Amino acid sequence: MKLKSQINNVIKDAFTKAGIEHEPMSVSEATKPEFGDYQFNGAMALSKKIGKNPREIAQNILDNIDLTGVLSKAEIAGPGFINLWLNPLWIGAQCQTALEDERLGISIRENPIKVVVDYSGPNMAKQMHVGHLRSTIIGDTLANLLTFLGDEVIRQNHIGDWGTQFGMLIAYLEMKDEDGSVSLKDLEQFYKDAKGEFDANADFANKAREYVVKIQSGDAHCLNLWQKFIDISLGHCEEVYEKLNVNLTRDDVRAESFYNDELPKVVEVLADKGTLQESDGAQCVFLEGDEIPVIVQKGDGGYLYATTDLAALWYRAEVLGAKRISYVVDARQAGHFKQVFRVAKEAGFVPEDVKLEHIAFGTMMDKGGKPFKTRDGGTVKLIDLLDEAVVKAKETINNKEDYTPEQVDELAKIIGIGAVKYADLAINRESNYIFNWDKMLSFEGNTSLYMQYGYARIQSIFRKYNAPIEGEIIIGDALEHRLATMLLRFEDVLSRAAVDASSNQITTYLYELVTLFMRFYEQNPILKGGIDEEVKMSRLQLANLTAKTIKQGLDILGIKVVDKL
Ligand code: ARG
Repeated sequence: MKLKSQINNVIKDAFTKAGIEHEPMSVSEATKPEFGDYQFNGAMALSKKIGKNPREIAQNILDNIDLTGVLSKAEIAGPGFINLWLNPLWIGAQCQTALEDERLGISIRENPIKVVVDYSGPNMAKQMHVGHLRSTIIGDTLANLLTFLGDEVIRQNHIGDWGTQFGMLIAYLEMKDEDGSVSLKDLEQFYKDAKGEFDANADFANKAREYVVKIQSGDAHCLNLWQKFIDISLGHCEEVYEKLNVNLTRDDVRAESFYNDELPKVVEVLADKGTLQESDGAQCVFLEGDEIPVIVQKGDGGYLYATTDLAALWYRAEVLGAKRISYVVDARQAGHFKQVFRVAKEAGFVPEDVKLEHIAFGTMMDKGGKPFKTRDGGTVKLIDLLDEAVVKAKETINNKEDYTPEQVDELAKIIGIGAVKYADLAINRESNYIFNWDKMLSFEGNTSLYMQYGYARIQSIFRKYNAPIEGEIIIGDALEHRLATMLLRFEDVLSRAAVDASSNQITTYLYELVTLFMRFYEQNPILKGGIDEEVKMSRLQLANLTAKTIKQGLDILGIKVVDKL
């Protein structure tokens, strides 16, 4: 159970005993060590409600508070704050229970819900570029986190596989008449070549236009070529997912084309409800207060990005039965999602009780604060960036004499990919951020390497010790007390991060945890001679729980740990 809830329960019991018939507000973490571990600040708010002096109320709570279980000390401070100290015996026992549990004592939600997480969503006409990195890893983290907490997560990869450009691409594929695998090795180049042909050759351009109509009307030959093209493009994406250690498979793909048959129905339903208005030949929904309408059908009959998203919203809510639908998409699409969410709810595509959210994120910038580009101004292919990360990681770890070349390669992958992911997941997702190799590959600061190093350091303690561990966790001093409390906070942090879809709450926590552990380890040696056996056992177990917590935290972020670094 969440640490905060357990403390809240103690306060609740005190309220009952004191005869206060109100729900207590939640405790918060103390801002300074001298204020204890947690603080209850609810007496002031209550004083307005029941017309008593806050200190008097606080005293009443204090007189009825149980200090023999979760808490061991409580004190009134200032105008009526109550400072609370956790009971060292209790936190020791809680840590022990956590250590023996493979979920580290973290409960599975009592009321799990079905959640759709829409993420990655690359466009098949082009190679994945750095812009798709953020959606892919922020979305994957959210999906991992909710799964860990017990929700039923449905990952959805809304890939862009439909649109007029595919006419050009498949016409070119046919013209080259290759089996596709050669010319499509580099999608970016293929697109450029096809576009070059389109601009220079009128016959080809006509053919491409013809093909657009043909694919849309279900011509078998064209659809075949199109399918081949999509398969190969998707294969490129899967290579990236594999490198990134991201849990997306073909089964998670519900491409734009998946909704084709539903698009006329979307328009029909809107028309029946009387929400459609014609504007310049197009069918539009005008939302109150919005200047720009949502266009659902063009004058030529074609459908749009918004139409597909409305169909997808209906599918996710009604067919899949999701109660929370989270779209992990660039902040620049905020307007689009705001509008389609509104239309979907107003038209009844999505029931009222379904939570729709746009998990927006900012842009990745280069050192000069400009959107990330290659030296010649092109878009950076994601796969190139990831390969570079591995090369750079190898440079950082090049003097590992006791490793085979294969081990070095494996280590470089774990470190390099972890660094790129962590640097991204560690910032407030809505901000733009500056991509910086040196910073992300540093052993110091809030980086994946620092966490991986912390983990490996604990493993090395166990390699040295290499004997059975018995006995209890006994909280001996203030640092042990803080470390144990920090470990017990993990569930609170994960739950909050799940609500806010904020991976940086997890990274901030891990950073505080590892920093605290390093201090603890410096001041409280574990294997040095002359240390009492009981103390040694207790510290070893705290170290073990720290390592497991780091591993679990990084696992949710999709980052691996290593035993030796
Ligand atoms: N393909 C889109 C893009 O690259 C992202 C898709 C996001 N998901 C959605 N349901 N609209 O911008």
